[in-house]
Amino acid sequence: MLPTIAWQDDLIVMVDQRKLPAAEIYVQCKSATDVAKAIKTMVIRGAPAIGVAAAMGIALGMDRSKVTGTRQFAVEFQKTCDLMAATRPTAVNLFWAIERMKRTFSDGALAGESVEQLKVRLRRESDRIHDEDVASCRAIGAHGARLVPSDARILTHCNAGALATAGYGTALGVIRGAVEAGKRVRVLADETRPFLQGSRLTAWELVRDGIDTTVITDSMAGAMMRDDQIDLVVVGADRIAANGDTANKIGTYTVAVLAKEHGIPFYVAAPWSTIDLSTRDGDAIPIEERNAREVTHVGNNQLAPDGALVRNPSFDVMPAEFITAIITERGVYRPPFLDTLAAASI
Ligand code: MRU
Repeated sequence: MLPTIAWQDDLIVMVDQRKLPAAEIYVQCKSATDVAKAIKTMVIRGAPAIGVAAAMGIALGMDRSKVTGTRQFAVEFQKTCDLMAATRPTAVNLFWAIERMKRTFSDGALAGESVEQLKVRLRRESDRIHDEDVASCRAIGAHGARLVPSDARILTHCNAGALATAGYGTALGVIRGAVEAGKRVRVLADETRPFLQGSRLTAWELVRDGIDTTVITDSMAGAMMRDDQIDLVVVGADRIAANGDTANKIGTYTVAVLAKEHGIPFYVAAPWSTIDLSTRDGDAIPIEERNAREVTHVGNNQLAPDGALVRNPSFDVMPAEFITAIITERGVYRPPFLDTLAAASI
């Protein structure tokens, strides 16, 4: 499995996802600031991976702390959490992971632990968050595989794979699960403008796994559906509101509308940490607007003239009515999501 992010002694190492597939370069993070920068600049991306990186980054930052008193240590801890929280706004897994680290810290502080004991406790919790994410992805894969016909052509958008998680993937976990269950799977990977996570990352992962993969431009999906070349769609998610409205990579909404029009099942695969029951519906999900350069340039090649105004919302929201089912490690949930997700959260 791909090493998305790992400890190497007391450093955090991650594959630089901006450089794939042309080069497999590993970035070393020596501080919490390095990790926050890596999240912000998309060295590491994908909702679950962002959460895992933030937890590990907090553990790293606190491990490096020079303070000896617990009160000062708590002040530094809060600052480190704030640093991580300011990286990317949409993926709720980030805030979920920070909250877990905060709970871990306060449990230790309440038990009267020393600074050294708190450091160990934080590192252990970040390891747990990492390992649980891989286990969740495998469970998502097993649940989702049952929804895949024995011979399936599957469209996916963006990258919800091993690279977007601590390993195995969510949407690609479903694909991997179906392949492991002996099904014949052919994948259509939307290239996913502007950052090209589909053509660069999804195709790279799947080809390495020997899974039949065809890259298409985003604008081809509709014609492929009309030509009866797609049996189902599976995508990941950055945040799922209480009513099932789901934010994911920009362009997912278009795919969802097309799938509904063509009567094609549309599945969202995500760990429970992506479900945000405190957000009522999709209108309340913050959508990150990223740098215009991601749209105007590919590498150093300029694609749009200087002076053109540019929009770059990084995510869109699919209203729940477009979603056939949400696949999590706890099981498969169908509409009405307001009821089925609430019942599963107990
Ligand atoms: O901007 P990114 O690359 O972080 O966006 C990633 C996505 O939208 C993924 O589909 C989502 O995070 C799910 S990853 C399992």
